[in-house]
Amino acid sequence: MAFPTHRLRRLRRTETLRSLVRETRLTPESLVYPLFVCPGSGIRKEVRSMPGVFNLSIDEAVKEVRATRALGVLSVILFGLPDKKDEVATGAWTADGIVQKATRAIKSEVRDVLVMGDVCLCEYMSHGHCGIVKAAPQSLGAAAAAPPVTDEYEIVNDPSLELLARTSVSLAQSGVDIIAPSDMMDGRVGAIRQALDASGFENTPILSYAAKFSSGFYGPFREAADSAPQFGDRRSYQMDPGNIREAMREIELDIEEGADMIMVKPAMPYLDVIAAARERFDLPLAAYQVSGEYAMIEAAARNQWIDRDRVMMESLLCIRRAGASMILTYYAKEAAKLLA
Ligand code: PBG
Repeated sequence: MAFPTHRLRRLRRTETLRSLVRETRLTPESLVYPLFVCPGSGIRKEVRSMPGVFNLSIDEAVKEVRATRALGVLSVILFGLPDKKDEVATGAWTADGIVQKATRAIKSEVRDVLVMGDVCLCEYMSHGHCGIVKAAPQSLGAAAAAPPVTDEYEIVNDPSLELLARTSVSLAQSGVDIIAPSDMMDGRVGAIRQALDASGFENTPILSYAAKFSSGFYGPFREAADSAPQFGDRRSYQMDPGNIREAMREIELDIEEGADMIMVKPAMPYLDVIAAARERFDLPLAAYQVSGEYAMIEAAARNQWIDRDRVMMESLLCIRRAGASMILTYYAKEAAKLLA
């Protein structure tokens, strides 16, 4: 009874027909635009490995947010490049930190935009790790000459929670609408929820980077945010790329601790994780199309090996189809232009 009665090509004949039966659509409202904010003014410095992405001083960031908001993108997520880094990530939680200042400027100058704050310590730590580092005394002394090896240092979990909670409260005080912890310490969502509630921010939602994998696709970001670890790697806190069942446990625990929204990251190499999370959990689900995903598309497009606009839109659509309701993407502005 199949062919010739059934001809699936009947509904593919024209764009009008295809549009009628399309199951998944992109909208600018579902995109979140990441920005890298740096000190100074009038600065718009392109990131070498991410053409089209810039380190922006606060005045330039405000302009960028205004332009993006005008295209229908409702939200931005801010990353900061601090003046100084130290061993306790002062730049992350101080009231005059770069993201705090940028948030105040954006919220006072652009109407009706949601500012998300990425909560992590790596950009603000001299060693570039996402938590406090406890090293054996001999490796600390020799750090410059010979970086400590894995069993000589530890990214300590519980003491890091206090700094993450402090950072979250400070961001909320500066006007950040949504707190987005990306550090992957155990228990951080609970610690942040408690601290926010204790400071009167019980209405500030948490978007947890719940299933964040230890990924080579973050390479260009670390150049953009100057946040590469100075020794070792992030495998002792970010997830092993082979694990999907563990990803479900990570998400489950973050929900128990009070996450309002969850995220899977990276996006394209982890579409199965997005689909499994969509199937299993009923919270709003975000996916992060990360720096390396962006850089690969840009590099191939610049070589004229692929059609950039087409691949950009297809990649975003497919992340939605897999089940993400929101996508954090460096293409937010460009995609919104094409959707207009
Ligand atoms: C901070 C953080 C990272 C990214 C988002 N938040 C880097 C990392 O974990 O090393 C990566 C985003 C991207 O690659 O676009 N921890």
